[in-house]
Amino acid sequence: MRPSSSLSQISRATAKVIARASLLPLLCLLAPQPPLLASPAALAGAPGAAAPTTITYDNATRTFRLDGGGVTYIFGINERNELQSLYWGHRLAPADRIPAAHFAKEHASFDASNTTTPQEFAGWGAELYVEPALKITFADGNRDLVLHYISHTIAANTLTIVLRDISRDLFVTLRYSMDSDTGILGRSATIENRTQAGLTIEQAAAASWNLPRGTDYTMHYLSGRWAGESALHSQLIQPGKTVIESRRGSTGHQNNPWFAINRGPATEQSGDVWFGALAWSGSWSITLEQDQLQQIRVTGGFNPFDFSYPLSPGQKLETPVFYAGYSSEGMGEASRLLHRFELAQIIPHAPNQLPRPRPVLYNSWEATEFNVDEAGQTALAEKAASLGVERFVMDDGWFGQRKDDHAGLGDWYVNPQKFPNGLAPLIKKVHSLGMDFGLWFEPEMVNPDSDLYRKHPDWVIHFEGRPETQARNQLVLNLAMPEVRAYVFGFLDKTLTDYDIAFVKWDYNRNWSEPGWSATKLEDQKTLPVAYIHNLYSILAELRAKHPKVEFESCSGGGGRIDLGILGLTEEVWTSDNTDPFDRLLIQDGFTHAYTPGVMMAWVTDSSTTGRNHRNFSTAYRFLSSMQGGLGIGSNLNKWTPDDFATAKHMVAEYKTIRETVQHGSLYRLISPQGGSEYSATQSVSRDRKQSVAFAFLHSSQMGYPAPRLYLQGLDPNAVYRTHIIHGSLSKDTPESASGAFWMSHGIDIDLQGDYDAAGIVFQQQ
Ligand code: DGJ
Repeated sequence: MRPSSSLSQISRATAKVIARASLLPLLCLLAPQPPLLASPAALAGAPGAAAPTTITYDNATRTFRLDGGGVTYIFGINERNELQSLYWGHRLAPADRIPAAHFAKEHASFDASNTTTPQEFAGWGAELYVEPALKITFADGNRDLVLHYISHTIAANTLTIVLRDISRDLFVTLRYSMDSDTGILGRSATIENRTQAGLTIEQAAAASWNLPRGTDYTMHYLSGRWAGESALHSQLIQPGKTVIESRRGSTGHQNNPWFAINRGPATEQSGDVWFGALAWSGSWSITLEQDQLQQIRVTGGFNPFDFSYPLSPGQKLETPVFYAGYSSEGMGEASRLLHRFELAQIIPHAPNQLPRPRPVLYNSWEATEFNVDEAGQTALAEKAASLGVERFVMDDGWFGQRKDDHAGLGDWYVNPQKFPNGLAPLIKKVHSLGMDFGLWFEPEMVNPDSDLYRKHPDWVIHFEGRPETQARNQLVLNLAMPEVRAYVFGFLDKTLTDYDIAFVKWDYNRNWSEPGWSATKLEDQKTLPVAYIHNLYSILAELRAKHPKVEFESCSGGGGRIDLGILGLTEEVWTSDNTDPFDRLLIQDGFTHAYTPGVMMAWVTDSSTTGRNHRNFSTAYRFLSSMQGGLGIGSNLNKWTPDDFATAKHMVAEYKTIRETVQHGSLYRLISPQGGSEYSATQSVSRDRKQSVAFAFLHSSQMGYPAPRLYLQGLDPNAVYRTHIIHGSLSKDTPESASGAFWMSHGIDIDLQGDYDAAGIVFQQQ
C-alpha cells in the first residue's frame, strides 16, 4: 500500500503535534490546524461526482449557511452576538432564506434567555443551566464566560469563526467543514488564552448540536461490555439528560461515542435521523438533553469528569472533532452516509482511492493462545495458506517471558526458547506460502513481572504511595511521559525495521485506574487524559510515516477502542472477542449503525468448543456470519476435518469475489436480528450496482413457518441480475435471473430450516 497522504484530519492534526507532544508533557497547539476534511479530490470513490460544498454568509441577516450532499446547516449571529442554531436538515433550495437569529425571550425569571437560546457553542456564564460547551476558571477565580462572535473566514469547505469572551481575552476558534458527498459536518474548537495570566479549562466540548423543538424524538446509542459490544439501545428522549461516556482513559466497551436521534416514526428506510460520532479515543462524553422548553441538544467532547487543563498565556487546546449528519431516509441511510464518509474521509487510504480491501487473515490466538513457537505457527501457516488466506498473524505469546498473562508485557524481545532463531525463519516461511505476516503487540501495558517494570516502576499510571490496581495482571504505562513515549515508539520501530511485517494488531486489555501523574507539575496532572491520547496518536502517525507499508488494527480486548479518532490511524478494528457466529449477528448489526463493514474484522472460530455459548454451528454458517465484514479465520486448523477444509476453501474463494461489495458497498439491514428475532438478513450493493450479495440467517424454526421473503434494496431496477448461490438454497420456482425491480419488488424466498441455518446469495448484473 502506498503511504497514506489522506490520513484523516484527525490523524494529520495529531501527527502535527507529535514532536511537541513528545517533548512537552503539557500539550499546547501552536501550529495552524489542517482542514477537518480531506480535499474534495480524496472523495473519489463515492458514487457520482458530488457538487462541492457551498458555504455562504448573508450579511443582511448575519446567517451562515453550509450546503453539502443532501444537507443544509444554518446558524446566525443574534442581537447579543451569540451564535445561534437555526436549521439542520434536508437540503433547502438555494433561494430559500431562513429568518435571522433572534435570541429567545425570557420564558420566566427561572428560565432567562441565555439558557433557552439554542447556542452553537455556549460558555458557562450568565445564567446558563444547560450543558455548556466550555467552562473556564480564570486566574482571579472568575468563572463567568460569555462568548460572542468576533469574526469569520470561509475557505474551500471550511468555515472558521472566532468567538471571544465579552471582557477577557479568552478566544475560541470554531471550525466547520462539510463533506460534499454526505453532508456530514465536522466541528471542533480551539480554546486560546490570550490573557496575561493562567487559566484552567474545566470542561471543553467540540460542539453542541441543536435539533428542532419537539417531544417525539427517540435516541439510539451503543452500549456493551467485554465480549458483548455494540448492543443497540433506543429510548424516547424525555426531559432531562442522558450522558453516554467513558471515564476509563480509552473509548471503552460500555458506550461508544456515537448517537442517532430520529423524529417521529422513523424506520430503517424512512424518516428524519440526525446522527454523530466523536473522533476521540480517550475519556469522552456526549450529553443528550431535552430542556424545559422541549429543545433538544447534543453536546460532546472531552469528558469533564476529573478534567482540568491549565493554559498559560499564549497556550491553546484543540478539542477532538465531532462529526454529525442528517438523513431523511431513516436509520439505514444514516449508516450508509457514515460508512461512505468513513471510507472517504477517515480511514487511511492512498489519494483518490478507497481504502485497500481487507485481506483474508488467519490469527493464531484462539488456536494456540500463549503457546506459540516456530514449529506450531509454521504448521498453522501451511494449513491457512491452503485455504487461500492472505495474511498470517501471530498473536500474543511471542515475546519476553510470556507464558501466560502474568508476565512479559513491556519486554518486547523475541522469546529465545520459543523462537531460537528469531522471527525471520517463520516470516520467511509465511512469505513463501504466499501470505504476508502480522504481529500482535500490546504496547501501552506492562506486567509487574517484567524487566521493564523492575527497572521503571515509576512509568506506570499511579498515585504515589497508593495501591496500583492490576487487571489481567497488568498496569498501564503512562504514555504521556516523554521517556515512555520514546520507549514505546522505539521498540515498535525497531521490530518493524528488523522484520518484514505487514500488519500490527495493537491490543489494549484494561482500562485506567488510579490516574495519577506525579512526575509532572501538580497543576498539570489532570492533563493526562489528553496528553496520553495525543501521544498514542502521535506514535501511530510517526510509525505510519516511517513504515508506510504496515497496516494497523485497533483492538482492545475486542471492541473497546473503536472510534473515528483511532480509525484515522488504523485500517481495521477487532470487533469483539465474542466470536460466536450467532451472537456476532447482533454485535455486527449494532456495529454497522456507526461503523463501516470495511473495518469490521470477523473471524471464523471453533466456537462450539471455545465460544461464549458452547453450541454447534456448521462451518458454512460460521463463514457466512464472518463474511459480512473483513473475513478472518481463528480456528485451530489442526483439528479441522477434510470437509471443513473443503467448505472453508470454497467460502474463502467466494468471499474474494464479493469482498469489495461487502467492505465498500452500500449496506442494507434487511431484517434486524435485534429483539430476539428468529431471522436476520443483510444485503450489500457494490458502488456501481453491478453486484449485490445477501446473507440470511435463521436462529430456530418455529411452528414450521417458511422464512420471510427478502425484498432487496439499492439495485438498478432496469438491469438484469443473475443469482449465484454461495451456500443454501432458494425456493424451487425462483428464476435464475430477473430485473433489479423483480428482486426488489417481488422479492426472493430463501429456504432456511431447522436450527442455525444460513444462506449467501450473489446477484450479478449481466
Ligand atoms: C485480546 C484480544 O481481543 C484477543 O484477540 C487476543 O489478541 C488477546 N487479547 C491476546 O492476549
